[in-house]
Amino acid sequence: MDFQSGRHFLQIPGPTNVPDRVLRAMARPTIDHRGPEFSRLVREILEGLKQVFKTTGTVVLYPSSGTGAWEAALVNTLSPGDKILMFETGHFATMWRNVALRLGLEVDFVPGDWRHGVSPETVEAKLSEDRGRAIKAVGIVHNETSTGVASRVAEIRKAIDRAGHPALFLVDTISSLASMDYRHDEWGVDVTVCCSQKGLMLPPGLGLNTISGKALAASKSARLPRSYWDWEAMINTNKSGFFPYTPATNLLYGLREALNILQEEGLDRVFARHGRLAEATRRAVRAWNLELLCLNPQEYSSTLTAVLMPPGHDADAFRKLVLEKFNMSLGNGLGKVQGKVFRIGHLGDFNDLMLAGTLSGLEMGFALAGVPFSKGGGLAALVYLSGR
Ligand SMILES: Cc1ncc(COP(=O)(O)O)c(C=O)c1O
Repeated sequence: MDFQSGRHFLQIPGPTNVPDRVLRAMARPTIDHRGPEFSRLVREILEGLKQVFKTTGTVVLYPSSGTGAWEAALVNTLSPGDKILMFETGHFATMWRNVALRLGLEVDFVPGDWRHGVSPETVEAKLSEDRGRAIKAVGIVHNETSTGVASRVAEIRKAIDRAGHPALFLVDTISSLASMDYRHDEWGVDVTVCCSQKGLMLPPGLGLNTISGKALAASKSARLPRSYWDWEAMINTNKSGFFPYTPATNLLYGLREALNILQEEGLDRVFARHGRLAEATRRAVRAWNLELLCLNPQEYSSTLTAVLMPPGHDADAFRKLVLEKFNMSLGNGLGKVQGKVFRIGHLGDFNDLMLAGTLSGLEMGFALAGVPFSKGGGLAALVYLSGR
């Protein structure tokens, strides 16, 4: 690749752009993780995270990627052979299903077309049919990062309640937390799974579980083997601000700063900013005469937009060209939609002009790649953004 001047455009849906403030906060000497300063840091962070998850429950943090947090949610709540209801909304839902299978759980995996979220009606029907209460948990991905489709968590909770079913409700918010409205307590979620590198604006390396009282009670009798992921050891040491093993100290400095940034902007404004930038992106896609992967407007994601390439055009070749010519990384199509879609990440530390640059790069890329499109998508987005 030729020398690239200027700033790289990191427009994948995570890891996202890390704000300079967060980078600076992390560029400090690592301190003793058994000393008083560290203990204050952890207690402050755990309180701050509760506000972001909207919970009075328990938050635990692992030095891990999101996949670790998936595993933690399962091994702490379930026993070998337990049945879990999951939904094929896309690549990440499929990967979480695979984790469950490898752990020895029985998964009822409801097939999907990768263009819709979890159907609350199907949840209700499946749970109502389960008269023997064999299903111990329902596991869904709030925002499917491979498709740009967001499932309606509050409605799914209501569906579980209508069925009167006691299953635990496990939700992956890896690409929605701190970008899209999410309410762990109000929506009756038992375990929320998250990680650091998306809406929390940090580098990869922290996995999170937020735990309801019901999930904590379930963990006392859950028998899947666990050691590193064991909530009990973590919660007990966290009480005094410590960890059962060596934590990711410098990422925690970054997390404290990221929480400050979120608090300064205010979560509602964060959500509104993401919603507005997502709407501008969709207007651009429509003006280009290209197709959104997400089919249901009620399920549009605010954090990324997946766009179908016109037939005969390879999304990965297009992404390669955009990277080489414009120094911009776009998300690739994953799993079943590989080569067929590209994804525009518009989350985290992101604003109007960054989106304008992103859309310009795309539009120039379409022209260079010979992709059939109508001009003016970028303009449609600017008109929308400046009209408010
Ligand atoms: C929705 C979702 N779940 C899970 C994961 C897996 O997280 P990680 O790659 O940090 O293990 C990702 C990663 O992008 C994701 O987007």
